[in-house]
Amino acid sequence: MTDFICQPSSSVSGELRVPGDKSISHRAIMLASIAEGVTDISGFLHGEDSLKTLQAFRDLGVQIDDNGEDICVHGVGLHGLQAPQHELYMGNSGTGMRLLTGLLAGQPFDSILTGDASLSSRPMLRIINPLTHMGAVIECLPEGTAPLHIRGGQSLHGIDYSMPVASAQVKSALLLAGLYAEGETCISEPAPTRDHTERMLRGFGYPVHSTDGRVCLNGGGVLTGGAIEVPADISSAAFFMVAASIAPGSELLLTHVGINPTRTGVIDILRLMGADIEILDEREAGGEPVADLRVRHAPLKGIDIPTETVPRAIDEFPALFIAAACAEGVTRLTGAEELRVKESDRIQVMADGLQTLGITARAMPDGIEIEGNPGQTVFNGGRVDSEGDHRIAMAFAVAALRASGSIEIHDCDNVDTSFPGFVALAAEAGLQIESTADAAETVEEDAE
Ligand code: S3P
Repeated sequence: MTDFICQPSSSVSGELRVPGDKSISHRAIMLASIAEGVTDISGFLHGEDSLKTLQAFRDLGVQIDDNGEDICVHGVGLHGLQAPQHELYMGNSGTGMRLLTGLLAGQPFDSILTGDASLSSRPMLRIINPLTHMGAVIECLPEGTAPLHIRGGQSLHGIDYSMPVASAQVKSALLLAGLYAEGETCISEPAPTRDHTERMLRGFGYPVHSTDGRVCLNGGGVLTGGAIEVPADISSAAFFMVAASIAPGSELLLTHVGINPTRTGVIDILRLMGADIEILDEREAGGEPVADLRVRHAPLKGIDIPTETVPRAIDEFPALFIAAACAEGVTRLTGAEELRVKESDRIQVMADGLQTLGITARAMPDGIEIEGNPGQTVFNGGRVDSEGDHRIAMAFAVAALRASGSIEIHDCDNVDTSFPGFVALAAEAGLQIESTADAAETVEEDAE
């Protein structure tokens, strides 16, 4: 298992482009596969999660060319997928599993979706229940978890569904099933969640109607392939936004970052804390707003995080908790119980790690309270466990910027699910992270 050993360093600087957006990369493979004609995808995230989705669609009979940079998908049309010869393994990816379940519910063949230990413990009834109302037949374990057996050959019908949780994965799963359903599928969300599925469907020429908090589509249309440009992932950029904000003397330019308003909660929260983030050269790429972000160090203060921002920053809280630890005063997060069912229980795992590093952090059922320590060194050195959660590993790596000794982070292999090349890019910015995986490779090379 890979560990990161992170040495304290003073500041970060330079110009960086983080890898492609994970959410958009998953959707690009899925929609391009069921479109008519060829789709070229640039900026695709070659991370473990989106590559699992790519492999799943190859297993479903789609020709997908990958030259290591760009992807070319030879779409088979809405009804051209073929029965897979074996189980589809989705690894660590909740997005891959949940969206694919919606899409597979409308196919004429059976399929089985599996995942790693983390994914196999995550709640799936949130998609199984509404899909069942649409006529799908999906079996799971008694705990409501994967493996999922999706029985094909069902005729689906549209439903009008109010989601109890603000989840883009649930919304997207239902929209994808809705493509195969008779009549109209409508979903209402309790708070705005990422709308990449809706935007990309429209980009493929598929009519989708969105009004305040409600999205509807009719089944039986056609998607037409084209070109998709994937922006850099704001969720990956978030680690560098926090790094530059907390380390005195820092200035970073993060280029071509997706700033879809359903994803920019991290910018809003950091700015409320006093961060210095400029949004430059706003433009559009592939139906998504993008910009360059200039981030300079600024003294941060603790805040009560507005509940409205929570779904728009849902993946950025591990990084934001590190910012909170460096702020003057207390930061309080509430209304974020969803964090307990992500790749790990992000409230508990972050609270444990922060406490190990000398920060007062109180986990609550739906959030956390963190007492900031605005001193020159904020964190003690120590050893924390990411519990296999990519974003927790990267968050604690950033904390080392303000630590008095080295921070060792256990179980970092899954950083590759969303941010391949993190250690090298972080080194370019000025972070000092040694990965035991790289050290092992060097030993092997020396032995050859
Ligand atoms: C995602 C939606 C979010 C997010 C996940 C990606 C997506 O999950 O946490 O990393 O691509 O739709 P929920 O929809 O469960 O909140």
